[in-house]
Amino acid sequence: MKIAVLGCGTVGSGVVDLIDELGSVYAKRCSQKSVEVKYILDLRDLKDTPYETRVIHDIESIINDGEIDVVAEMMGGTEPAFTFCMRAMAAGKCVVTSNKQLVAEKGEALMAQAEKNDVAFMFGASVCGGIPVLRNIFSCLSSNKTESFSGILNGTTNYILTKMTEEKSSFEAALSDAQKKGFAEKDPTDDIEGFDAARKTAILCSACFGSHVYPDEIKTKGITEITLEDVTYLKNAGFAVKLIGRGSVKDGRIYACVAPAALSEKDILSGVRGVLNAVFIKGNAMPELMLSGPGAGKLPTASDVVADILECARLKFKNEPVYSWSEHRDGIMGDVDLSEKRFYVRGFSNDTEKTTARVREAFGGIKLLSDGGAKDIAFICEADGRSVLNDRLDSADGFVPVSVIPVL
Ligand code: HSE
Repeated sequence: MKIAVLGCGTVGSGVVDLIDELGSVYAKRCSQKSVEVKYILDLRDLKDTPYETRVIHDIESIINDGEIDVVAEMMGGTEPAFTFCMRAMAAGKCVVTSNKQLVAEKGEALMAQAEKNDVAFMFGASVCGGIPVLRNIFSCLSSNKTESFSGILNGTTNYILTKMTEEKSSFEAALSDAQKKGFAEKDPTDDIEGFDAARKTAILCSACFGSHVYPDEIKTKGITEITLEDVTYLKNAGFAVKLIGRGSVKDGRIYACVAPAALSEKDILSGVRGVLNAVFIKGNAMPELMLSGPGAGKLPTASDVVADILECARLKFKNEPVYSWSEHRDGIMGDVDLSEKRFYVRGFSNDTEKTTARVREAFGGIKLLSDGGAKDIAFICEADGRSVLNDRLDSADGFVPVSVIPVL
């Protein structure tokens, strides 16, 4: 089997390194004479590296080389990755990718192209790097009707929230530490605003519930407004704040979002610390499955990409829709706000005592987390959805809400 790698960044170089080291082992595992990387497409020359002799700058050499069985795309972004993958499949090559943006936004077209040209299109590493989440959903759980999933899908934000909770770091200090350690990008917008987790949530909704869901259909809120005060009030009350991507299906509608949530310390996801990811899946027959591990990084992500490459060979480079779903359906998304029933709220008032009494009256009972000494009023309350919550908060005269976090 001959492979062309598109993009020799962190993950791409990991794929080349694994295949260079273990190619002969892989060959046995997928009944091939050999498994080799023949080309590495990159903008750079990669001089004085083990990659140098295989570097090319022109996709045509790959498209026109009949020896290439699999194109492994790890460039990131939608273009030119999309065009290159479509052309590779048109030329009869299987495509494997770790690119979540590509799968979330263009998955439908890529699956159709794979079917039309009778080649495999595989993207296991596009959700949570090395954790075999998609593989399990499509294989071990294919006997189930998946009812819901919830997960910590972004390592950078989990690292930041863990630092805030365990070391009392401010958001800014925790982010700067994540950047120093190389977890967060120089421009961390996609991570901290929840866009990266929204792409993974869209792919998980598509995989679990069967029709394509786009990232812009996922209601998304990041962690930039979470303060040390919120994390501390919740920690003292026995909750951990996590950025959760979740989806569920009811009466044919999908309810999905990415948002910070307060999880009880007893919740299995609340113990997932630092850069680790985890996904908890509920099926009709298999009611609880949690998969956890490193959701990013060179070798963990490369491990899943290479597993998909080997699977292409096992499928004899034909179109077996290992990872697939049906086309997008308009109007399939429900209002996730209606499913939220319990909230943490923090706000302030100029007269804490009087306002606390009004808040209690508005909700008919709250669990107060603040001690009445500061201007802060923090509490946990129940309300049947966001709009009921907002009406009740409006009716508590003198209370100015600052943070609202659903308690799951
Ligand atoms: N930046 C992502 C994370 C990894 O922090 O989890 C790639 O999706």
